[in-house]
Amino acid sequence: MRKKIVAGNWKMNKDIPESENLISELKSKLSNFNSLTEVIICPPFTNLQLASELTKNTIIKVGAQNMYYENSGAFTAEISADMLKSVGCKYVIIGHSERRTIFAETNQLINKKINKAINENLIPIFCIGESLNERETGETEKIIESQIRTGLEKISLNNANELIIAYEPIWAIGTGKTASPEQAEEVHFFIRKLISDIYSAEIAEKIRILYGGSVKPENASSLMSKENIDGALVGGACLKANSFFEIIKAVQ
Ligand code: PGA
Repeated sequence: MRKKIVAGNWKMNKDIPESENLISELKSKLSNFNSLTEVIICPPFTNLQLASELTKNTIIKVGAQNMYYENSGAFTAEISADMLKSVGCKYVIIGHSERRTIFAETNQLINKKINKAINENLIPIFCIGESLNERETGETEKIIESQIRTGLEKISLNNANELIIAYEPIWAIGTGKTASPEQAEEVHFFIRKLISDIYSAEIAEKIRILYGGSVKPENASSLMSKENIDGALVGGACLKANSFFEIIKAVQ
């Protein structure tokens, strides 16, 4: 059985006091809840250290939303894997569609970042997904395949826990339009098959594939009822402790 994951991508939201409030509300909700689900929060860089301190000895783990693949040097405004580890990060979102579309990140750049994260023992949450136009022209599988094949090129995995994949159709992100459980399951099944092809049947069986794109308390359980959906990457609904907690309950 694959352990489910609920990860919250805070994006560019929450200053320090707001982060303190959100984390303390979340902690109090989770304190009496026997969570069988991995819970991850990904605040902005400026709040990572605080988030790690506030979540010490709780089930909540901390991830970043991005990183650069070099160790150090003249890369103004970039953040290295070591820096993330030094503030208590265990996970890092890589290749989010907003990074790809607004900041022009390519599959090749994403490949370098994933490679670096894994080598540094950070677990990448590797995001992939098609645009509305690509879906409507029947290119979903082609796009997903090239994102995965290039994103994971020459990256070896010792075990399935070194990587998490998040399928996030761009047309469903922040739009209130969720993929139907059937639409999502179809792509998740395809991704698992690809992973089996690239790595092995064993890794494919164990790797966690999250769905993201307008996940809410109301739609989480129907999405999670699908065989190949192992959790959620949540944007908007993770900014309130109540809705994030309701999603964690629904996923469980
Ligand atoms: P959303 O964002 O839940 O607000 O659609 C998901 C994401 O971008 O990870």
